[in-house]
Amino acid sequence: MRRSLIAANWKTHGSLEMVGDFVKGFASGIELRADVVLFPPAVYLSTLAGLTSEFVQVGLQDVGVAADGAHTGEIAASMVKDVGGSWVIVGHSERRLDQGESDELVAHKFASALAAGLSPIVCVGETLAQRESGDAFAVVCRQLMAVVDHCGAAALLNGAIAYEPLWAIGTGVTATPEQAGQMHASIRAQVAGLDESVAPALRIIYGGSVNPANAGSLFAQEDIDGALVGGASLQAASFAAIVAAV
Ligand code: PGA
Repeated sequence: MRRSLIAANWKTHGSLEMVGDFVKGFASGIELRADVVLFPPAVYLSTLAGLTSEFVQVGLQDVGVAADGAHTGEIAASMVKDVGGSWVIVGHSERRLDQGESDELVAHKFASALAAGLSPIVCVGETLAQRESGDAFAVVCRQLMAVVDHCGAAALLNGAIAYEPLWAIGTGVTATPEQAGQMHASIRAQVAGLDESVAPALRIIYGGSVNPANAGSLFAQEDIDGALVGGASLQAASFAAIVAAV
């Protein structure tokens, strides 16, 4: 049995006030049947870690490759750990697009996180044009294989894969449970082809307009092991409802 993983990606949203409100709203009486990880903007990580360490985990939305040194603006994986974080997201499509992050850079970030003892979630996903031209799986595979080639298939067990079709992120258009389930099954089959012992234990979560209304039907798919939630994770009540749908 794979334990579900539900992650909140706050992106560039929030404030100290929101951190406090969220913790108060989320903490009250929730029973966790999943691993829950909150990814606030970097500057709030330490505060959030201090307030939530009892019941959820926290992490960074990105991480630098270098362990330390002269890299202005970068945050090293060891620093995430130092302030109480245990996860990072690497290769989110917004970073691949806005910052031009390559598959190779993402693979190096995945490796840096592992080296510091963090659990990385690597995001993969296709654009609408790529899906319509029948290339969705090839794109996802290319993104995934960059990590596997650099770190090995077994390394995936120290983190998770997030399948996030770009056309479903922040658009209100969710992949149908069948569409998402099919891609998750294909990803698992690809990993099984590389290492049969890794595939059954690998957590593959879905991201893209997940909300309290659609979470249950997504989680009902055999190969969907949780969610990476953007917009609906900004309010404690809606995020708690998604966690409760596990
Ligand atoms: P969304 O974002 O839930 O707002 O679509 C998901 C993500 O980008 O991780």
